[in-house]
Amino acid sequence: MSSKLNISVIGGAGHIGLPLSCFFQIKGHQVNVIDKNLTALEKASKGTPPFYEKNFKENLQSANNLGLNYKSDIETIKDSNIVFITLGTSSEDVDIELFDNVLEEVISNISKESILILRSTITHETILKVKNNSIFMEKKLLLAYCPERIAEGFAFEELEKIPQIIGVKNSNDFEIVSKFFISCGLETIHTTFEEAVFTKLFSNTYRYAEFSLINEFSNIAKKHNIDFDKIKHFSTYKYDRLSKLPKTGYVGGPCLPKDTKTFTHSYPVIDDILSKFLRTNDQFLDGIVNDCINKFTTKNIIQFGITFKENSDDLRSSGAFKLYEKLIENNFDVYVVEPNLAIGISDYGFENYRFEDIKQITDNIIFAVDHNEFKLYPTDLNNKSIIYAHS
Ligand SMILES: NC(=O)c1ccc[n+]([C@@H]2O[C@H](COP(=O)([O-])OP(=O)(O)OC[C@H]3O[C@@H](n4cnc5c(N)ncnc54)[C@H](O)[C@@H]3O)[C@@H](O)[C@H]2O)c1
Repeated sequence: MSSKLNISVIGGAGHIGLPLSCFFQIKGHQVNVIDKNLTALEKASKGTPPFYEKNFKENLQSANNLGLNYKSDIETIKDSNIVFITLGTSSEDVDIELFDNVLEEVISNISKESILILRSTITHETILKVKNNSIFMEKKLLLAYCPERIAEGFAFEELEKIPQIIGVKNSNDFEIVSKFFISCGLETIHTTFEEAVFTKLFSNTYRYAEFSLINEFSNIAKKHNIDFDKIKHFSTYKYDRLSKLPKTGYVGGPCLPKDTKTFTHSYPVIDDILSKFLRTNDQFLDGIVNDCINKFTTKNIIQFGITFKENSDDLRSSGAFKLYEKLIENNFDVYVVEPNLAIGISDYGFENYRFEDIKQITDNIIFAVDHNEFKLYPTDLNNKSIIYAHS
């Protein structure tokens, strides 16, 4: 194999696919970004990031200058030494069907004896389906499961640093795939397929459980009319053993809740405590809605932030968006101020306002997401009635 490889990334215009494609191109390989989303392909090819990532513009421009290629047809993969799949996945039937269909198409177009790397978060069952596919076997393809472990927003920092887990059939396959990642400057870890699956799902499920646990205590305290913010202060003040206590706040986003569901489906146990956390987070939001009902004297609210986490423009499985929906169900009129999205009606159906234009409407404010921009507002908020969804 020559040192400059031809690589295709299917789902290449997505949150995982595009930073990854730029990364490999910048590391000296020739990458084809393959995606059905023509708008995202067009934007990226012109150097405009289709979504937020730190340092995205400069990385995208460097990759484009080095010849990053944009395509919408899967046949392009026939010239590739390595094909990555970075499609969106979940345990929902619609996502499984999409993944299976694209996989069929990939296997029928990929060249003999090339390498297929699954990077989407998947189950062991999916890997077995690929391994047992008759065309896959006939073509003598090398299969690897190399899960993505970056945090959205930090791809360009973390792709450089996080060791690459490589789930494969045997040491020979590991050597081949490892050589590629080492050419990109990465440390590699050899695992079996199932170890790679378990490691990826465990990591996100554990983080989900850890963040949810503090919400569970907050829910219990609220039920008993105890101020949990005070409890956190009393229990952590000059008490190092609890110094790493996470903040309370809804746990959402495209990975943690979804991967927890996939983990509990894939590895079911009796008396499963992990599924309880999926309800904990919903109950946490109900608690905030109750706070609004009890504290606010009118039905108008200004909601600061609606994306799934701070400084992000991603609304997928956003707790702040769920909070917005719950407030609407409870007959509140909610005015969203989201600095990371365009002003006006969003695809999700809410209207996004400039704070300046609506600040006279109400004194009721809820801080739903901790965006950096909001740290500039407090002087405008004297005499307002404020609820913090994260503390
Ligand atoms: N977003 C994260 O922070 C993150 C982190 C780690 C792992 N993951 C995992 O990575 C995977 C991808 O997640 P994502 O956030 O990038 O999803 P995404 O929705 O942003 O990207 C998926 C891309 O696939 C494209 N696509 C859909 N159907 C296609 C088809 N038939 N042919 C070609 N392209 C098609 C979409 O247009 C989209 O651009 C998921 O399994 C996710 O769980 C995500």
